[in-house]
Amino acid sequence: MTLPIYVQGAWFLGAALFIVGLKGMSSPASARKGIVIAGYGMLVAIAATFLIPGLQNIALMALALALGGSAAWISGQKVKMTDMPQMVAIYNGMGGGAAAAIAAIEFAKGDAHSLATTVLAVIGALIGAVSFTGSCVAWAKLQGVLKKAYRLPAQNAVNIVLALIAIALGGAMVAMAPAQPALIFGFFAVALLLGLIVTLPIGGADMPVVISLFNAFTGLAVGFEGYVLGNPALIIAGIVVGAAGTLLTQLMAKAMNRPISNILFTPMVASGPGEAISGSMKELSALDAAAMMRYASKVIIVPGYGMAVAHAQHKVWEMTSMLEEAGVEVKFAIHPVAGRMPGHMNVLLAEAGVPYDKIFDLEEINGEFGQADVALVIGANDVVNPTARTDKASPIYGMPILDADKAQNVIVIKRGKGTGYSGVENALFYTDNCRMLYGDAQPMAGEIIQHLKAMG
Ligand code: TAP
Repeated sequence: MTLPIYVQGAWFLGAALFIVGLKGMSSPASARKGIVIAGYGMLVAIAATFLIPGLQNIALMALALALGGSAAWISGQKVKMTDMPQMVAIYNGMGGGAAAAIAAIEFAKGDAHSLATTVLAVIGALIGAVSFTGSCVAWAKLQGVLKKAYRLPAQNAVNIVLALIAIALGGAMVAMAPAQPALIFGFFAVALLLGLIVTLPIGGADMPVVISLFNAFTGLAVGFEGYVLGNPALIIAGIVVGAAGTLLTQLMAKAMNRPISNILFTPMVASGPGEAISGSMKELSALDAAAMMRYASKVIIVPGYGMAVAHAQHKVWEMTSMLEEAGVEVKFAIHPVAGRMPGHMNVLLAEAGVPYDKIFDLEEINGEFGQADVALVIGANDVVNPTARTDKASPIYGMPILDADKAQNVIVIKRGKGTGYSGVENALFYTDNCRMLYGDAQPMAGEIIQHLKAMG
């Protein structure tokens, strides 16, 4: 069916808004605007769908929109910043599931399609179904519903066999089109199982990369199904999401120095006993920490996951402003995988009002730690662990780190002797120039502020 020009035009406008929105998201300064623009794009694309002549089941579609829209609105209002990765996971899973469902309906209808369209529908269905169950597992792990990593004895062999069966069933569906219901059912059952089996053994620390990979899968699946439906908005949105997800996955994997194949198929564990760490952890008081920074010329702050958990960003910015008023140069050093999702620290600091020109990436700031009087590490651990440079047995070996240990003095705010996400002991905490300020990041930053006030 040829669609009216106004529907096609509106879909094209929606797709253009997605691209403009995505461009906006490339900088923290315009990210919020970008999200809103992409949201309008989605609104235009959905509204145009209702204008297709001869549309049936309009009441059902409106009901689905009302249910889905309200669930998303309520959960979006309530979600905590630290729970954002699992929210992304579940929404992404919905996208993959929707793409697979579109394909399932097309197969069930049994309409004649060209060979190319049927092949794309099958590929889209396979990756959409894998992305759906895989993202559900990712959500369950990050939400703490699934606490263990379940690994089968011959995990990688099982993954390969399942993938081959799914491909073979998909091939049969193309060859026998229109496929019998039993074949369609078998294909989807195996594809859904594949997503579960591949994701269950992956540990929580690798989950954000996996979510991003599934995000790329969902984009591709949506793009392919858009082709099947002849919907350009879906094709463009799918390609944009697929490309963005692929780039993000590569960037994250590079920042952790873990090839994507390694993340998917090898658990993150130490390959040996590891280097012995000598020395002891030495404590200091909030008063000493305040004095060290107040009389420093340059302080570099390294925030990590603990700052997010403690919601300490506002206090950290207040402390920074006081130090700057006292003539101290203060910069923020952001590791690409600090926290639990890409851009986690940038978003929190932006929310607290920290200007973007004070926030530096790893490559930009690493050369400056040598000239810093104090590196203040707030709730960060793995991203400043020097064993990543030297200990070949460490699971984080090779991960580029922030060179906080090169500062003249290092102050680490954390609650106790807990390890970071990788579970690896941090050699930085035992070095001669490092002092520990034990406590929750927010009250500790508050105490430092009080002492700075008293110092005038
Ligand atoms: P982590 O290595 O996870 O360390 C966080 C530290 O914060 C912990 O040692 C913890 O020590 C401390 N902490 C927790 N709650 C706190 C609180 N309320 N107040 C003060 N401190 C608190 O964090 P990181 O340095 O940001 O590194 C991120 C890790 O996540 C890396 O291993 C990275 O590979 C992984 N990861 C991140 C991403 C993305 S995209 N960001 C993706 C995949 C994996 P205590 O328990 O002693 O307080």
